[in-house]
Amino acid sequence: MTKPTFFKHLGGLFLAVFLLTGAASDTELALVQSAAAQQAGEVPGNTLGTSSDSDFWRQIRQGQQGQVSIPNAQAGVLIQSEGDNWRAFRNGPLSLYGAWALLGILILLSLFFILRGRIKVEHGMSGKLIERFNSVERFAHWLTATSFVVLGLTGLNVLYGRYVLLPVIGPDAFSVITIAGKYLHNYIAFAFMVGVVMMFVMWVKHNIPNRLDLIWLAQGGGLFSKGVHPPSKKFNAGQKLIFWSVIIGGASISASGIALLFPFELHMFGKTFGILNMFGANLPTDLTVMQEMQLSQLWHSIVGIGLIVIIVAHIYIGSIGMEGAFDAMGSGLVDENWAKEHHSLWVEEVQARQASSGAD
Ligand code: HEM
Repeated sequence: MTKPTFFKHLGGLFLAVFLLTGAASDTELALVQSAAAQQAGEVPGNTLGTSSDSDFWRQIRQGQQGQVSIPNAQAGVLIQSEGDNWRAFRNGPLSLYGAWALLGILILLSLFFILRGRIKVEHGMSGKLIERFNSVERFAHWLTATSFVVLGLTGLNVLYGRYVLLPVIGPDAFSVITIAGKYLHNYIAFAFMVGVVMMFVMWVKHNIPNRLDLIWLAQGGGLFSKGVHPPSKKFNAGQKLIFWSVIIGGASISASGIALLFPFELHMFGKTFGILNMFGANLPTDLTVMQEMQLSQLWHSIVGIGLIVIIVAHIYIGSIGMEGAFDAMGSGLVDENWAKEHHSLWVEEVQARQASSGAD
């Protein structure tokens, strides 16, 4: 006889004795029945009082807190189905489409380079230099740029490292790199935030959209054909798009990053969904702190990949893609002919300013 069957029979025997002797009250009967069933391994036993076992298990299955006596309320949630959804989305579509986006931009830029080649200064270098960015502007740019590159690489390692790096370098080296990467990512994030704020303060006035931007966009910025140079002030429409992507994307990735850095403290998604619902969206606002964390993680990754795709294109055009461009952020000085071809109205403004200060 197996152990549970033995206990069942034992319980039955006790029950029969109680019934025969007439000594058992209803409560005693329930206690004996539940003790026997508990011994038989069927139900949690008599800890539930009069409530049903199925209610108890249903509440656990639905992730309700307070069903077990673990003091930490978070740890007291034994089953959390949203966690499965989060993991499936992160390891599924997010990683897959993210990889395609990253590969896609590299393929597009390679094709662009093959077909268009390096965009040359068509009138040749004049030898005359104009200051484009002062040292504070360049400091802000390189602070943002270097921190972004570190954040991008360490972030990609968290998402893809186990598939790409781990099989190549092995678990020991991967572990060291990933732990170091985590600390770099968490601390260098603040340098990135400082850089984004500085760029915003210095350049926002040059990035307000205007009608010239439509002309620039209609002509593809002259990037696709030789001899086309749509007029532009300090920043053209393409650069304005980069600027606003960095500012809005940078603010959003910073906010979701802070939510991940200080777990369970911020409740941004419920509040944001509440605002979106005012415009007709039908999103849940009553999110648990765990769901808030899951959404922060997914949003952080989506914005991160989006920004990396945009910035890879920016790095291309600011380095090998266009002759004379890098100097703007390198030495801060650009050739006058480069400036006339890409920012004709800005050159006129600079020359007018120089003429008026020379006349003073
Ligand atoms: C790491 C390699 C990078 C290179 C070689 C590079 C190069 C450049 C150059 C040459 C300019 C000046 C363009 C001009 O004179 O009109 C510029 C501007 C700018 N860069 Fe970068 N950059 C890099 C990374 C980044 C990163 C990571 C960010 C932000 C996350 C960034 C954000 C900007 C912004 C907002 C501007 C002004 C708008 C624009 O020109 O698009 N850059 N960059």
